[in-house]
Amino acid sequence: MYDFYSDTKSIPTKAMLESIISAPLGDEQKGEDPTTAKLEARVAELLGKEAAVFMISGTMCNEIAVKVHCQPGNEIICDETSHLLNYECGSPAALSGVTLRTLNGVNGIFSAEDVKRAVRPHSRYMPVSKMLLVEQTANLGGGAIWPLEEIDNVTEEARKHGLVTHMDGARLLNAVAKTNIEASRYARDFDTVWIDFSKGLGAPCGAVLAGSAEFCHEAWRQKQALGGAMRQSGVLAATCLYALDHHLEQQTIDNNLAASIGERIAKLPKVVKMLPVDTNIIIFDLERDAPTASDIVEKLQKKGILVGAFGERRIRIVTCLNVNAVAGDKLISEISEILNN
Ligand SMILES: Cc1ncc(COP(=O)(O)O)c(C=O)c1O
Repeated sequence: MYDFYSDTKSIPTKAMLESIISAPLGDEQKGEDPTTAKLEARVAELLGKEAAVFMISGTMCNEIAVKVHCQPGNEIICDETSHLLNYECGSPAALSGVTLRTLNGVNGIFSAEDVKRAVRPHSRYMPVSKMLLVEQTANLGGGAIWPLEEIDNVTEEARKHGLVTHMDGARLLNAVAKTNIEASRYARDFDTVWIDFSKGLGAPCGAVLAGSAEFCHEAWRQKQALGGAMRQSGVLAATCLYALDHHLEQQTIDNNLAASIGERIAKLPKVVKMLPVDTNIIIFDLERDAPTASDIVEKLQKKGILVGAFGERRIRIVTCLNVNAVAGDKLISEISEILNN
């Protein structure tokens, strides 16, 4: 199978798994796992923050950030396509008593003016606007990269209104690979930011949430409370350190492969709209008389290719270290056969 469904399906390489064997280990809950501590220090530095906490998943990073930053009755301003809203089981409400105010950005990217309009006036009736969320890159926006200027504009607007700022950086390093802008620069004006290791970086799981030392102290308490504290977590952290040492260039390879696939798909019949392919995600729509997305998914699966249906006639394709140029060529020839018939 050539798996273009998601970069979350990236399989750890043998060398990555071998890195576990020599990793020094200890009890993470006691602060005694040296490999986890090394990973946290490395990510804190990469993101330009004082401290960082290793979490089991990106979802846990988002939810713990919400819990530490917000009180029940608070509201978060975010795009309507955000992972926090769509794929986290309503946890801001369920776990933290927090509601989301959504913006209708362009490919997941909204403006300072949008933020200004969304901030609630002080009122005894209304929720309290508390936090701004930016997703870099914007997954359902087709992996769109937030331009630095927009980031600077929205974080400045947020500060004017006393909002806390949080970046979901699940694929921040794909943006870094494309623009050569440092991760710490993208993260500079955010109170908290995290990166995921289980996507393009190819680790089996794990994400690291960074912020001030005070924030991380509270984040640790929440991680413990939610049962996310581990023991010899260095087994996982070793794979993440391996990814930082060996897989950063992979993000460029993934971005380039996606660009080449996107260019070829855009020229196929019945393809009516493609979101700009900034990084490793390709999202496109088919015209009304084309087969449905689920038909295409099924047909491709029979040919040994996995892609995702993200709407009746919307398809998502994601590149990562599971696939290469040969897989890309096969994907194009099979999709082209389906759409030409
Ligand atoms: C933008 C974004 N944020 C958060 C997550 C959640 O990450 P995890 O699967 O590690 O919980 C994902 C996962 O796909 C994502 O795409």
